[in-house]
Amino acid sequence: MGLIQDINSLPPVDRMALANSREVILLIAQAIAKQGGRIRFDQFMDIAMFAPGRGYYDSINSIFGDKGDFTTAPEISPFFGQCITQQILQIMAQMGRTNILEFGAGSGILAQTILMELEKYDQLPHTYFIYDISPSLRKRQYGRLKKTIPHLIDRLVWLKDIPESFNGVIIANEVIDAMPVHKVVFRQNQNHEEIYITLSNNKLVQKEGPLSSLNIKKEMDDIIQLWPNIEDGYSSEINMGVKQWILQISQMLQRGLVLLIDYGFTRKDYYQPIHHQGNLMCYFQHCAHDDPLLYPGIQDVTCHVDFSLVARAFQENGLNVSGYTNQGFFLAGCGLESLYQQLDQSDEQKIITETRGLEQLILPNAMGEVFKVIGITKGVNENLIGFSASNLKDSL
Ligand SMILES: C[S@@+](CC[C@H](N)C(=O)[O-])C[C@H]1O[C@@H](n2cnc3c(N)ncnc32)[C@H](O)[C@@H]1O
Repeated sequence: MGLIQDINSLPPVDRMALANSREVILLIAQAIAKQGGRIRFDQFMDIAMFAPGRGYYDSINSIFGDKGDFTTAPEISPFFGQCITQQILQIMAQMGRTNILEFGAGSGILAQTILMELEKYDQLPHTYFIYDISPSLRKRQYGRLKKTIPHLIDRLVWLKDIPESFNGVIIANEVIDAMPVHKVVFRQNQNHEEIYITLSNNKLVQKEGPLSSLNIKKEMDDIIQLWPNIEDGYSSEINMGVKQWILQISQMLQRGLVLLIDYGFTRKDYYQPIHHQGNLMCYFQHCAHDDPLLYPGIQDVTCHVDFSLVARAFQENGLNVSGYTNQGFFLAGCGLESLYQQLDQSDEQKIITETRGLEQLILPNAMGEVFKVIGITKGVNENLIGFSASNLKDSL
């Protein structure tokens, strides 16, 4: 993540990317016309991010790494996947060799690291399932894994739908933050509003309108219970879609662990007065800014996660919230220090590179504090190693 920048100082956009963005704007304009003049913000985000063949996650652009827009934890350092593997091994010790299901596998690097690590322990899963919404990333994952771990490719299965039943470990790193959110505005007279996208002089603009559902009003009333003096015009986001996703996961999971890693806060922190303009961020070539309408389809639009909402949704569906903590503490609990000590000390260059990566993962001013991990269980021991260094689940 970076500091929010003035949009005038963003890097230049190449012509191909700009043409792609224009096509996405056209799709958005068509949806606006079809719906009589405006669409909800979450509908805008859905088209900009996921429109088949055009949206951000299904376009030809590089997304991850130095040449893309952002870099995720498994891309930064193999320690991330190695620590997660330690948590998986603890579950396997109870369930025996089981399955893994990764949502939103990005470039495929986390799957690669976890499978290589489990192989070392002779604990390969029966199947490593991947469910990713993006056809082009699914192809990219297959290409990478076929090249890097060809002998394990038969253990990987790409799913077209979320299965009805599953036993094992479910992982999703930086997936919830990519889900479309509703944007809302609090009003002191209780006539809260929602943000819609419409056209003005042939340009996309944001415009307030009435709330689109009673369920959003309920969430806003709950937030006001936490912050009774929330200021008039306070603007933020609510991720209503994640509840449906959690319902599907909860119905699917028969026994096992769900591990979700993302940046975000408890509900109380999420809606602090200081966040009065919300928690939505846009990334374009590693520069952070706050205008989601700038380059639809060629910039990342992402939103911090309200982990209290996530925890409550799982609990309402009968699953246990077993742990919640900062990424730094989670990795420490999974034995990061001992993994670091196992590095080949004679390879100085490797030590320097790996140390830099590790620092990125755990330092509070990098990813260590703003990124959180939540562990949800069903039918397994709730004392998860990942939350042994710190467990803040009571703060949710
Ligand atoms: C920010 S990237 C993270 C990628 C990867 N997990 C990592 O850590 O590098 C988000 C990923 O989630 C996928 N995705 C977004 N929404 C999804 C959903 N509802 N179900 C499954 N995959 C989704 C995207 O296609 C992409 O692969």
